Amino acid sequence: MNLFDVYSNEEIEIIKGRGIYIYDKYNQKYFDFYGGHAVISIGHSHPIYVNNLKKQIKKISFYSNSIKIPEQEKLASLLLDISGYYDYKVFLCNSGAEANENALKIASFHNNKKKIIAFKKSFHGRTSGAISITDNNKIITKFNLQHKVKFIDYKNLDFLEEELKKQDICAVISEGIQGIGGIIDPGMFVFNKIDFLCRKYNTIFIVDEIQSGYGRTGLFFAHQNYGIKPDIITIAKGMGNGFPIGGVIISPKFKPFNGMLGTTFGGNYLACSSGISVLEIIKKECLISNAKKMGEIFINSLKEIDEIKEIRGKGLMLGVNFNFKVKKLINFLIKKEKIFVGSSLDQNIIRLLPPLTIKEKHIKNFIIRLKKALYFLKNDK
Ligand SMILES: Cc1ncc(COP(=O)(O)O)c(C=O)c1O
Repeated sequence: MNLFDVYSNEEIEIIKGRGIYIYDKYNQKYFDFYGGHAVISIGHSHPIYVNNLKKQIKKISFYSNSIKIPEQEKLASLLLDISGYYDYKVFLCNSGAEANENALKIASFHNNKKKIIAFKKSFHGRTSGAISITDNNKIITKFNLQHKVKFIDYKNLDFLEEELKKQDICAVISEGIQGIGGIIDPGMFVFNKIDFLCRKYNTIFIVDEIQSGYGRTGLFFAHQNYGIKPDIITIAKGMGNGFPIGGVIISPKFKPFNGMLGTTFGGNYLACSSGISVLEIIKKECLISNAKKMGEIFINSLKEIDEIKEIRGKGLMLGVNFNFKVKKLINFLIKKEKIFVGSSLDQNIIRLLPPLTIKEKHIKNFIIRLKKALYFLKNDK
């Protein structure tokens, strides 16, 4: 094997994707209820998306940011329009981690401070700054520990206030809904308290919507369920439906200067074409309201199952908490029932992040297969 072996992945060779389905080299069809870590927003190989990318690559695929790329302006305008952040600005980059790195830099350029507050069970990416604000000792190296970071429990916001009072905090960052941590929604009270405290102590509030954004929770951003307006929002995953693209949405209080941020690939023609196609399809096919509606159907259907202790999350970002460790179940679902689902750091949770194009019939079919899997595992002693 020539690849540096860092992933524990399935021995399944996927060669094709269509809508909510993916197909292996034997033409075996699988349901994709994971969307490749929440990346597939408009469904696999959506025909309009494919056509637009084809047309774009025939014209030009890349030039650097040394020239104006009008497609960037179009993408930014569609994004601010659909999200309601009309007076904010957009910086385009290539991934979620890079979006978070840039968000932290924007905050630090603004107030010239360096300490960051993140939350327990957070995940924000694997580059130096992003991993330093990720609460997982297993993947952090000594090199990453140079950053000044404090992790706080969502349940201990008094401690947050104690820290903010010291006036040396550059920014507070939270996921819209924690994904890898096990679908943990901070909720109305917590988000409003963080927002209030950041304003009170004049600290930057960043919300990482990399997994929870792009319509997945039934509103464009998960935090919009709670009526707050952070200073900076980071995005990636669903933004390009698989084409690598990320972005930072930035409040007008931050002033850009020449050379402040930059990237070679960020905002290239193909990335913009994918980003524009995704937003146009989300709008045309009403995928945000579909996510809300399908999420409700999903939650109600899952409630019928006795082995489920709790259903977490919103819309099509769901965490199903079983009364047992789910490793075997996930394996069974993939191997026997031909359904991809996700895991998390919580061993009892299955993460569901299907494409936003999902229909009721797919959910009903999922429930039948899940019940079959549970029955089989229960009786297979
Ligand atoms: C909430 C969140 N932030 C950041 C990232 C990092 O994104 P990327 O892998 O594109 O760097 C992820 C990836 O899983 C994520 O879930």
